[in-house]
Amino acid sequence: MDRWQTIIEPFRIHSVEPIRLTTVEAREAALEAAGWNLFNLHADDVLIDLLTDSGTGAMSRDQWAGIQHGDESYAGSPSWFAFLESVTALFPFRHVIPTHQGRAAEKILFSVLGRPGMVIPNNTHFDTTRANVEFTGAEAVDLVIAEGRIPSAEHPFKGNMDVDALERLLEDRGADVPVVFVTITNNSGGGQPVSLRNLRAVRAVCDRHGVPLFLDACRFAENAWFIHEREEGQATRSIPDIVRDIASLADGMTMSAKKDGLANIGGWLALNDDALAEQCRNLLILTEGFPTYGGLAGRDLEAIAQGLREVVEEDYLRYRIRSTAYLGEALDRAGVPVVKPFGGHAVYLDARALLPHIPPLEYPGQALAIALYREGGIRGCEIGTVMFGRHRDGTEAPAAMDLVRLAIPRRTYTQSHVDYVIEVVRWVAERAADLRGLRIVEAPLALRHFTARFEPLPA
Ligand SMILES: Cc1ncc(COP(=O)(O)O)c(C=O)c1O
Repeated sequence: MDRWQTIIEPFRIHSVEPIRLTTVEAREAALEAAGWNLFNLHADDVLIDLLTDSGTGAMSRDQWAGIQHGDESYAGSPSWFAFLESVTALFPFRHVIPTHQGRAAEKILFSVLGRPGMVIPNNTHFDTTRANVEFTGAEAVDLVIAEGRIPSAEHPFKGNMDVDALERLLEDRGADVPVVFVTITNNSGGGQPVSLRNLRAVRAVCDRHGVPLFLDACRFAENAWFIHEREEGQATRSIPDIVRDIASLADGMTMSAKKDGLANIGGWLALNDDALAEQCRNLLILTEGFPTYGGLAGRDLEAIAQGLREVVEEDYLRYRIRSTAYLGEALDRAGVPVVKPFGGHAVYLDARALLPHIPPLEYPGQALAIALYREGGIRGCEIGTVMFGRHRDGTEAPAAMDLVRLAIPRRTYTQSHVDYVIEVVRWVAERAADLRGLRIVEAPLALRHFTARFEPLPA
């Protein structure tokens, strides 16, 4: 137990960015122009932007200094070697392939491994991961444990893979499974961690069937902190040691440095298999760039190299996870239905529970996200039927859950910003019965949540 209860930000502010308060009327007009899709808003019209924790964090003094050190040599830049050293200090894979962000790493890997008839299991595929798998014609299957699908279920490692279900899948269709993925933390399932014990069990199943195991490791440091806090025998170990333990159980990883790289852009694919790495590098050169910079400038490589050193610091992780829980606990106390336990990077509101009068195919998550913006200028993100409800054959069905994610950018907002968010969410939740659903008037075939346009349904 800490001596002091107040969570303080383990940094002071060095440079500030203005944010702008607007009126409800102005936000209503902005919503109309945006087709009721918060991705279409002008970010200047958003007061507290909790759309994503991806690339939206504040960089440190030392990361900005790293930017100045960036060396833009086309090949063999010192910044590449700084990046490589930082990545392999935590993830000692034989090959590291830098990409401009996580989905580029996914695209390259699945272009090599995926094709029709293949199936790729994951605890829960993130939307870009699923889309990249499905784009190759392969099938993306989610095998998270049962508790991971129930918003109110308490479990210390709710992101764990259902090992029996994985075993059954590999017994039935092992020859069609080119890779097993585990996402740490499980973003789409509520930012929930995966235990070391579960990873070891998944590894054992993969070994029995001769299938490689890859990590979608975007939030590896947050996951390692949960292991440190919650898993037996881990409390005295350092975070980098836990991360290396996680890495040692896998054959490779995809990564978005926009999360636990503490950078605004970047990612990588890392793996041990020489032949697979060669195929991936050939695609990298075609789509991203030369293997020592991939999709990144030298300065970005430097920012990530430093970010990886900072993200595993205990003071930072303690503050990060405590301040996310602070938001969740306050909403829970106020009776707002939230996914529990609280994840690392976000608090998820259970829109289906809060808005029982709005059926899933009228998008309760979207309705709630719109209300938070309209009333308080807060931008969250629907993670539900808009995001996952449309299937490849064009049919639509309710997603497993209808959530609104309030993702917390790293080191960006202070406690008073969070107190304001709590006040607005409570206000909206108290008037939940007044909210109405929406219909989609225009949507692309894949990843529709980014660009779809909506229309509010009549009261
Ligand atoms: C779990 C997970 N995987 C992959 C990605 C894709 O990363 P990027 O946005 O850098 O392409 C994300 C991004 O949010 C994510 O949360």
